[in-house]
Amino acid sequence: MHTGARLSRRAFLGAGAALGVAAAFAPSRVSEARVPSVGPITRSIALSAGETELRLLGPDKPPTRILAYDGEPFRTIRAKKGDRLEIAFDNRMHEGSTVHWHGIRLPNEYDGVPTLTQPLVQPGGRFVYRVPLDDPGTFFFHPHCDETGQAGRGLAGVLIVEDERDPKFDAEFVLVLKDWRLAEDGGFLALSEPDGASKAGTFGATRTVNGKPAERLEAPANGDVRLRILNIDSTRVMDIGVEGAPAALIAVDGHALDPIPMDDLPDGIWRMGPAQRIDVALRMPGEGGTVRIGDYRAAEIYEFATITAQPSRRAARRFHPPGLPAARLPRPDLKRAEQLTFTLQQATDAAVKEAGLPPDDPLAKALIDSLCVGATAYWAIDQQAWPTGAQRKLPAPLARLKAGASYRVVIKNGTRFPHPIHLHGHAFQVIDSSSKRLPRHWADTVLVQSGETVEIAFVAAPGDWVFHCHILEHMETGMMGWFRVV
Ligand code: C2O
Ligand code: CU
Repeated sequence: MHTGARLSRRAFLGAGAALGVAAAFAPSRVSEARVPSVGPITRSIALSAGETELRLLGPDKPPTRILAYDGEPFRTIRAKKGDRLEIAFDNRMHEGSTVHWHGIRLPNEYDGVPTLTQPLVQPGGRFVYRVPLDDPGTFFFHPHCDETGQAGRGLAGVLIVEDERDPKFDAEFVLVLKDWRLAEDGGFLALSEPDGASKAGTFGATRTVNGKPAERLEAPANGDVRLRILNIDSTRVMDIGVEGAPAALIAVDGHALDPIPMDDLPDGIWRMGPAQRIDVALRMPGEGGTVRIGDYRAAEIYEFATITAQPSRRAARRFHPPGLPAARLPRPDLKRAEQLTFTLQQATDAAVKEAGLPPDDPLAKALIDSLCVGATAYWAIDQQAWPTGAQRKLPAPLARLKAGASYRVVIKNGTRFPHPIHLHGHAFQVIDSSSKRLPRHWADTVLVQSGETVEIAFVAAPGDWVFHCHILEHMETGMMGWFRVV
């Protein structure tokens, strides 16, 4: 049967070796050590957060009151490389929020981390973000306070930065993956439970793409298609695969890499944790043929999109996946870089004890409300847990870095669960993984599996930048720290 055939294909591909580290690395030739500056605004956008209804359980089931920007689930902003956006954010929710521009390199004051970079935007309040877009690619934005609650109820948007050098495709589809924790009446189940928060996370059972059970799409026969796939779930790690068409990975977290045929990846899939994105190029089959895109991680495959080939005048021809233009990113000097090591671990009592900023630091008196913290610490980075419960001070930075200097950061996962680790305000190079699972690539979030060690490198940009797990419950129960770069 169908499913069996696909499972055996997966097992067959599983025999493939891990990728060589040197494979598929697209170096950008230009070194730009500067931080993108805002400069003159090219476009002003109003953005509000509030409630809206979505029928997640089905057309004749009760709707769910979700959170969304501008009343539109996963509101999408399309902009051009070089744009300078001015985004006036209005908080129309009953709780404080901020907006974080995930993966965007920008001045620290617009990074959206309450306390560290800005005050919390209270209900009815406004904050104006100025966001320079120097890097083309697939990005997203989301709140950075009570993320388990706010993002868990749907608050997130897509930010696509187009480059005039982008190759032309016959069709492009944005696929936003998110699960929901729903009760039968359409309301939400608890978005976090201790057993989830302290382990792999609390999973949603209602799986969606673009807020629907699945997408049924069409594209011209023998045409070229670009997929922008975003895992914005709070918890779930997914194994993305494509069947029925030759396909290649062309970008990770928005950043171009030398195209890697999907069949050359270990198991024929790209493993993607929360907050990670990929761009995939594929060649449609002949008329009537169907391409299937799914998450192959669980025993029950979640086929979230199919694309059916429509009549077209295009002839069948060989597929050469088109490479995307690379961003001009500051390139770390790996020889001279200072190396830092951080271990992801479960919180011990020592991790939770007072480890505040020195009292003369202007941020030292930050109160717990504006830290948006959880109640319990289950996780830590190097014995230090982001404050939870009654701990009322912002913790000391994990490290103090020099602006413009290169760093290699070794991330060791000493836990039994995978953690997608995100550094704000930078694009980093993933330079090595102990499993040899990862090609060299640029990213803003990297999945570190249980027992694995991953090394990243970057040029430090000035500011206070958080470094955290993007399984939202993990970040809110301790697995977050920050770097001070001066
Ligand atoms: Cu998308 Cu601090 O994260
Ligand atoms: Cu985690």
